[in-house]
Amino acid sequence: MIKHWSASSHTPVLLSETLRALAVQPGGRYIDCTLGGGGHAAAILDHSSPGGQLLGIDADPNAIEIAKERLQHYKDSTLLVNDNFINLQSICIKYDFFPVHGILFDLGLSSLQLNGNGRGFSFQYDAPLDMRFSPSQKVTAADIVNTTSEARLAYLIKTYGEEGHSHRIASRIVKERPIETTRQLARLIEKAVGRRGRLHPATKTFQALRIAVNHELEHLETALRQAIDLLGYEGRLVVISYHSLEDRIVKQLMQKEARACICPPGIPTCVCGHVPRVRLINKKVITPSTPETDLNPRSRSAKLRAAERIITQGDCYATTEDHAFITIAKSRGWRRPALVQKLRMAFLAV
Ligand SMILES: C[S@@+](CC[C@H](N)C(=O)[O-])C[C@H]1O[C@@H](n2cnc3c(N)ncnc32)[C@H](O)[C@@H]1O
Repeated sequence: MIKHWSASSHTPVLLSETLRALAVQPGGRYIDCTLGGGGHAAAILDHSSPGGQLLGIDADPNAIEIAKERLQHYKDSTLLVNDNFINLQSICIKYDFFPVHGILFDLGLSSLQLNGNGRGFSFQYDAPLDMRFSPSQKVTAADIVNTTSEARLAYLIKTYGEEGHSHRIASRIVKERPIETTRQLARLIEKAVGRRGRLHPATKTFQALRIAVNHELEHLETALRQAIDLLGYEGRLVVISYHSLEDRIVKQLMQKEARACICPPGIPTCVCGHVPRVRLINKKVITPSTPETDLNPRSRSAKLRAAERIITQGDCYATTEDHAFITIAKSRGWRRPALVQKLRMAFLAV
């Protein structure tokens, strides 16, 4: 049974759809790459019991602390790691946690991060312009806002925020620098472009800054590739995204990995040698039901995509060591068969 959590905690989005897409089974091994408050993780552990195991990753040390409490009941079957999911592969190799039955990415921010925890993610609470998922990152939103050229700022706001008034906003920012707080930034954006419609005029600029501070799009694409490598036969990859830039990356990567040929159009015979590595579970994206969006308005923009790992001949692995080798070989781009075979024997002999 799916457990319900107190109103003050983060409500997991598309929970039953996620469990179904992951095909959670007793005794399965799962990775939650965006642990947050541990809502999805708790449900995965409930459904994979007895014998289930979960590796939970989050870049935010506060999230790890909160999830640790929530998952206390499962502490013997849970491994929580405070790290960025860009390091997914090395984390799994370090803890010998692969191949796995399912990997989840529930992207973006948790309610705990949005609800005015002083990290500057939301313009609804006054706080220093920080926006780093992890305090170990060097560059904050204030650094970007106060040191980037006007042209570069306009580019970032347009590209990562899909903001039509990016030039006007960038010019106002440069005129009013230094800008230190969320409220200061939100007010100047409102002055620059005025208020129209229901969306606050600062929404898109805040999204753009958060994406830039945390390199969200680059990290997502890299981590998704690593995730596919870590799935065992029929293992499931499930991604919930909250804006079109993320969803486009997920959709294009899954579609490409599912295709037998990725030659450019117009080539008469296939020369790419591409091997499909996944099968798409849902051809159409899954979105929350009206009852869910009524209960949890933040779920409105959620989109879930899922794919299942297929293992082909050249791709198959017999043992954990073989799988480790193939995973490392791919990550390093080793392609020449004779050399790879030699390295493989050396690796397995260690
Ligand atoms: C939407 S929340 C996840 C909520 C979670 N599924 C739950 O049910 O409580 C997203 C989480 O992912 C984390 N996160 C975002 N990008 C990350 C990254 N590149 N590496 C690790 N964690 C990341 C955030 O810190 C945040 O805690």
